[in-house]
Amino acid sequence: MIALEKILKGFETAESRWARFGPYYAMFPLDFAFDVVKKYSKEGDYIIDPFAGRCSSIFAGGVLGRNSLGIEINPVGWLYGSVKLKPADKENVIDRLLELYSKRNYYGQAMQRMPEFYRICFCDEVLKFLLSARKNLDWKNNDADATLMSILLLYLHGKIGSGLSNQMRMTKSMGMNYSVEWWKKNGMTTPPELDPCKFIIDKINWRYDKGKPKVTESAVVFGDSANELINISERAIKNDIKFSLLFTSPPYCSVTNYHADQWLRLWLLGGSENPQSFNDKHKGRFVNKVEYYQLLDNVFGLCSTVMKPKSTIYVRTDKREFTLNSTLEILKKHFPFHKLKMIEKPLSEETKTQTQLYGDKALKPGEVDIILTR
Ligand SMILES: C[S@@+](CC[C@H](N)C(=O)[O-])C[C@H]1O[C@@H](n2cnc3c(N)ncnc32)[C@H](O)[C@@H]1O
Repeated sequence: MIALEKILKGFETAESRWARFGPYYAMFPLDFAFDVVKKYSKEGDYIIDPFAGRCSSIFAGGVLGRNSLGIEINPVGWLYGSVKLKPADKENVIDRLLELYSKRNYYGQAMQRMPEFYRICFCDEVLKFLLSARKNLDWKNNDADATLMSILLLYLHGKIGSGLSNQMRMTKSMGMNYSVEWWKKNGMTTPPELDPCKFIIDKINWRYDKGKPKVTESAVVFGDSANELINISERAIKNDIKFSLLFTSPPYCSVTNYHADQWLRLWLLGGSENPQSFNDKHKGRFVNKVEYYQLLDNVFGLCSTVMKPKSTIYVRTDKREFTLNSTLEILKKHFPFHKLKMIEKPLSEETKTQTQLYGDKALKPGEVDIILTR
């Protein structure tokens, strides 16, 4: 087993290079994910995370010798997670990159028709290449394509020089009109000229420089937990598998919109060029309290059918009243014989919340950990 210190600090092992793969809203701090897995499970156990995000819980489980299963509805989080668990061979990823690059000039006309936002965000060479990637990468079904796509997503936007775009935050895609106005106001209407092929090959070489991570059989399913858990539960019962640790952080009611905040990355995955609204009930901001409650009730209820009687349920959530009270009520209902403990994490200068870790500076009431054990 690789020393934990080496994974949590620095980039000297394959595990540490892939562990941090993909910036994501409300992501678990890495050391927290490893600590919880170590403390509440042992090698060979089964771990589940029904709201997996970029899959730090699942990755920590896999690296620490647990069989881990995640479910994630957002394709951006799902791709980061599934790729870090099992990146394709580097040679195949580079071959696909070269193929796409060689096709970029077929996209000259399509590029000319793109809205102003894209023409200021990316130089012509980058935009043609992205259009080629968007059209040709079979990221849902092919490992090399998924790996390449997730690397493109990661570097799609960021500070000038650190990503493929004009100046933008790395974590969150800013609105189209807001960005255009901001670039104009700051005299930044010319995107940086760069060679996307060379840029991405350098990033691939760095990521694979220490090899691929060693992860015990683990996976992340792309879909809605409320549906996927029905099949998972049936299969687990058939194969006599029970999970020892449920380790998750559900969406926080009314706080964020995982789809709108990632709209540019979702465009690269084939989504709309001009995002309008995100009304799908699990894809927008969770403002409808009844639907939010039903989602948690459904998901934790289904999870309870696959947990061992002596399992641990570890849930990190928002301290705000509705989210916290609903989560507590639902967990007590589905795990009535477990003992409940709460760790409050008041906001302080030193403790960053998950949302602050991602760069969200707004004042938040903080997060709380709910732990149920037997
Ligand atoms: C607080 S985030 C989890 C972050 C994660 N712990 C990490 O370290 O990246 C909650 C996640 O739940 C996902 N989600 C929301 N509704 C879902 C559903 N019905 N099924 C599966 N995932 C869902 C969101 O897309 C989001 O990625």
